[in-house]
Amino acid sequence: MEWIKVFAPATIGNIGPGFDVLGLAVKNLGDIVEARKIAKGVVISEIISDMPLSADPHKNTAGIAASEVLRILNIDGGVELKIKKGMPSGSGLGSSAASACAAAFATNYLYGGQLNKDELILPATRAEEFVSGDFFADNTAPCLLGGATLTRSCLPLDVTKIGSISKLIIILVTPKITVLTKDARDILPETVPLKSFVFNMANSCLITAAFAKDDYSLFARSLNDEIIEPARAKLIQGFDQVKQNALRAGADGMAISGSGPTLFAITDDIHKARFIEDAMVRTFQNNGIECQSLITEVEDEGTVLIEENKK
Ligand code: HSE
Repeated sequence: MEWIKVFAPATIGNIGPGFDVLGLAVKNLGDIVEARKIAKGVVISEIISDMPLSADPHKNTAGIAASEVLRILNIDGGVELKIKKGMPSGSGLGSSAASACAAAFATNYLYGGQLNKDELILPATRAEEFVSGDFFADNTAPCLLGGATLTRSCLPLDVTKIGSISKLIIILVTPKITVLTKDARDILPETVPLKSFVFNMANSCLITAAFAKDDYSLFARSLNDEIIEPARAKLIQGFDQVKQNALRAGADGMAISGSGPTLFAITDDIHKARFIEDAMVRTFQNNGIECQSLITEVEDEGTVLIEENKK
């Protein structure tokens, strides 16, 4: 049987105050999944990754997403998967979502492409739920659809693709710190002051408008979070200093990507982007923490087929 190859991008989810609601796909980072039909079941025959990951299809998001798609399609066939991780797991860049989306897309494609990308969000998110313990689509939705997305409701799933910001330059900095999504969720306050709720809602709405209108300056004004960021910042050593130095270097905003530890800063000026990247990386290094960094932009296509008829 012939192999196909699918790419699924890294994602920022949440975008600042839009906790579990707003997500964004980014360029030049993501997972590749190769897939082919087999007679029955789901087999993961290869994983290329910096970190050990389970090849048990019941424990790996790619395997779970592929099984979910086969179940939805009611097909008595199977799929073999090879996974090439393009980003570190547990980095807050939607690593598990990317594998899930690529595998869901590939399985659907191999069996006739009956489901559209919107319909693949549910099986991919069910796979994500296995590793995160919670059901949220702010990584899977932008990963599949590209651009920025808004999840109104998870069950039933109601997701809207909002749009993109062409001038947006994103500086991603991933410190070598472990932050488990579960821990980063457990630390969140159960109740919030009405004032903070209104603040976060206003900023989230403005972010939605910014991506709908392709308006960078609107986004630059609205990357503010009074609720989630202060709680999670404690899990990232040096967070306040890194943010201060990113802003001093010219960033128009900085926030935690997903549940962290990756941080993302924004600008519309590529020269400033290099200064910002340098300031953030050096601040972490001064705190004894090594990092990976990348200057990137919005990925508008989402999950895509990159090769077929591969022998
Ligand atoms: N929206 C989720 C969170 C994403 O912030 O907990 C986790 O990657």
